Amino acid sequence: MDIFRKKTVGSLDESAGKLNRTLSALDLTALGVGAIIGTGIFVLTGVAAAVHAGPGLIISFAIAALTCVLSALCYSEFASTVPVSGSAYAYSYVAFGEIIAWILGWDLILEYGVAAAAVASGWSSYFTGLLDGFGLHLPAAISGAYDASKGSIIDLPAVIIIFVITYLLNKGIKETARFNGIMVIVKLIVVLLFIGVGAFYVKPVNWSPFLPFGVGGVINGAATVFFAYIGFDAVATAAEEVKRPQRDLPIGIIASLAICTLLYIAVSLVLTGIVPYSSLNVGDPVAFALRFVNQNMLAGLTSVGAIAGMTTVLLVMLFGMTRLLFAISRDGLLTSKLSNVSGKAQTPTQSTWVTGSLIAILTGFVPLNKLANLTSIGTLFAFAVVSLGIIALRRNNAGNKSGFKVPWVPYLPLLSAAACIYLMINLQAITWIGFVIWMIVGLLIYFLYGKKHSGLNNGSEKTNL
Ligand code: ALA
Repeated sequence: MDIFRKKTVGSLDESAGKLNRTLSALDLTALGVGAIIGTGIFVLTGVAAAVHAGPGLIISFAIAALTCVLSALCYSEFASTVPVSGSAYAYSYVAFGEIIAWILGWDLILEYGVAAAAVASGWSSYFTGLLDGFGLHLPAAISGAYDASKGSIIDLPAVIIIFVITYLLNKGIKETARFNGIMVIVKLIVVLLFIGVGAFYVKPVNWSPFLPFGVGGVINGAATVFFAYIGFDAVATAAEEVKRPQRDLPIGIIASLAICTLLYIAVSLVLTGIVPYSSLNVGDPVAFALRFVNQNMLAGLTSVGAIAGMTTVLLVMLFGMTRLLFAISRDGLLTSKLSNVSGKAQTPTQSTWVTGSLIAILTGFVPLNKLANLTSIGTLFAFAVVSLGIIALRRNNAGNKSGFKVPWVPYLPLLSAAACIYLMINLQAITWIGFVIWMIVGLLIYFLYGKKHSGLNNGSEKTNL
């Protein structure tokens, strides 16, 4: 059937090659850490500890990490077998065929788009908080998304940071990676300082009771903090800009995830050791814990680290989305204008500006900070499909050379998919409703546009826009 037409690994290799190959394994690891450490650890840990997991938060982090590690292994095999832009979208084109690829591509637009918009609004809160600290108060009308009760109309700082990053992305991948590297160092220093200084204030009595909300609470906590790990998958979207993709992509994906897992587990241990878990339901738990023990200077520095952290998350999420639109458009499923590459820097300029503008509108006017879970459900769905895709990939391209191989196929991919689906089930009904509506819109677009314009469509219906 038309809708299940597939690409081969060979055909993907041929279509790649317009973008500049400049990234190393270290750049990729920094991109990964850049995308991962942000709102999740600086904001969501508080509510996860206070409402869901208690001091058992550390187990929530471990469960979420395990789910991600399993998926990361599957991503790594795909990334080294099919090193092209588009990540899970491109993998599904090979493993399952066009319609599933489109569904995944559409799903990833949700992941990156909503994550970027939600993180930009978190960025803006931290930023206005920092300005307030210096006695500079922004007028209410320009300091939040539309909310009649607060008199806010547009979240101007969020819009500005999105456009600054869009501009940077257009300067070129190498410049983007350099800027990202500096920001990653800033946020790592802040996280390490928190762990190092905070450790001296830990009172083990705060860890008991360890599981005040039982095992169920820990699982709900894992679904909540899963957001904190999102981002390592975005590393794979850089595939066409990596010098030695087959070797470097698996290193970048797995190393960035490993580093962040260790840091998160240490942060949650220290956080719940300093402050009784029930007091942690605040917007800035990490800074709050430092203020709690009178480390006010360090608490201020944490805000700077959080801003740096969120900036890099934004950077990589926007980057991921531009490369995704680029790949989908190159295949004809969206207008071909989005895959034009231009300028000295050889970046997909149009998809970059379209991405930046859409997200700026979303974050500027729509109150989004509650939508992190929509990103999580989209990501978990992508992880589950990618995991199952490994089984299909092995069947379709059994003899293909590949730099990295998942062990214990099909058991490990099956376990990975099951873990993702289990966490999805633990998200709220409202999240599911949003997800299903998004998918229905996506299917309509496919049947009204993509199916006809697909590059794999040899029929007379095909037209190029
Ligand atoms: N993992 C990213 C964050 O926590 C999305 O902000």
